[in-house]
Amino acid sequence: VSAVLLMGTSLLAVNNDHDHKEHKLTRAVAVVQPTQKFKTAGVIHLEQKDGKVSITGKVKGLTPGKHGFHIHQYGDLSADDGSSAGGHYAPKGHEHGGPHKAQHHAGDLGNIVADENGVAMIDKQSDDFELTDVIGRAFVVHAGTDDLTSQPSGDAGARAGLAVIGIS
Ligand code: CU
Ligand code: ZN
Repeated sequence: VSAVLLMGTSLLAVNNDHDHKEHKLTRAVAVVQPTQKFKTAGVIHLEQKDGKVSITGKVKGLTPGKHGFHIHQYGDLSADDGSSAGGHYAPKGHEHGGPHKAQHHAGDLGNIVADENGVAMIDKQSDDFELTDVIGRAFVVHAGTDDLTSQPSGDAGARAGLAVIGIS
């Protein structure tokens, strides 16, 4: 028992020491990797600022047009088809929808749009979550378009690219 108590005490001491130096978590990065059969790649930056999270970046290797873009529940890219990332991040439940609808999943970010070269520039903002809520989860870029209506995930098709959100 005394050994456990001692360990507890020293851990507390270390934590207190770190508190003085640690900055508030404000920046994260996610590197997009393709699932099997796709060539999706890119980098996405996140920044917590003024009560919102800005999401900016560039994804390439897409077919021209709209592609569903969401934060999914898990940062688990182990399945070849991306299914291990789970469903849309939705801590409060709700139905699937577009980010501007009254009811939508917190992770519903609508679509990104790829140009004729298959490149999509991302510039979005969300106040549906804090940056700290999504660290360790994953962005999913879909092969198809999120219709912002169909349940449970907008009928956006296969998962073409995934990116775990990591502290930067
Ligand atoms: Cu998705
Ligand atoms: Zn959704």
